[in-house]
Amino acid sequence: MQPPNEKFGPVAIFLHWFTALAILVAVIFGLVSVYADSAELTRTALLIHQSLGFIAFVVVIFRIVWRMTHPAPPLPEAMPQSQKIAAATTHGLLYLTLLALAVTGYIGLAARGRAISIAGLFDLPRVVPLDRVLSVTSQNLHDYGQYVLYALLALHVGAALYHHFVVKDGILRRMWR
Ligand code: HEM
Ligand code: HEM
Repeated sequence: MQPPNEKFGPVAIFLHWFTALAILVAVIFGLVSVYADSAELTRTALLIHQSLGFIAFVVVIFRIVWRMTHPAPPLPEAMPQSQKIAAATTHGLLYLTLLALAVTGYIGLAARGRAISIAGLFDLPRVVPLDRVLSVTSQNLHDYGQYVLYALLALHVGAALYHHFVVKDGILRRMWR
């Protein structure tokens, strides 16, 4: 298959890998905060988790704006239309899921009146009412939302590796330096 000529721009590439790393580390510390057996570790892991989650949220918003003003390079013509639609759908759902996870994580804490420190530098303001049901619902959505993220990432990374190693159409290089 003919490799595409164009790649994503350096800003889009930087934002992609920065988000990927931030999400990976945020997920690890989210899990540590839930399964840690000392209060100290839970606190530290949560501080790192919510700080990275917040940073990822801001970066994802910036990324969406960047993407809307800087269109993606065209996909190879030989790629079936169904695959192009599947890729666009997965990407859209990834953006949505990341935003939803950050918002539900925030509401889960804010609605029960917890201070939410970002790296010890400042606290996020509370913009939701104090409401136990809202907090618990949001926290449940946050907990279950992680599986939506894992499923989308499995599809996404699986597709990227399939294109790189099997189809060999240069798709991974579009998102590389
Ligand atoms: C896109 C960013 C985020 C991702 C991918 C993410 C993912 C996760 C994951 C995988 C867990 C472990 C859940 C479990 O196994 O029960 C978790 C827990 C948690 N996250 Fe996040 N999170 C994100 C952002 C945030 C933000 C911004 C906050 C707060 C401002 C937050 C607050 C929490 C809290 C309080 C917990 C532990 C309590 C619980 O829900 O069980 N998260 N998160
Ligand atoms: C947390 C991890 C990741 C997230 C959240 C993520 C998210 C995304 C999103 C939203 C896009 C669409 C960009 C756009 O057109 O707006 C994208 C593109 C891309 N991602 Fe990821 N990604 C992650 C990890 C990875 C990994 C590990 C790989 C490689 C193994 C990868 C390979 C690619 C490639 C090749 C593209 C460009 C696809 C194309 O040419 O249209 N991603 N990613």
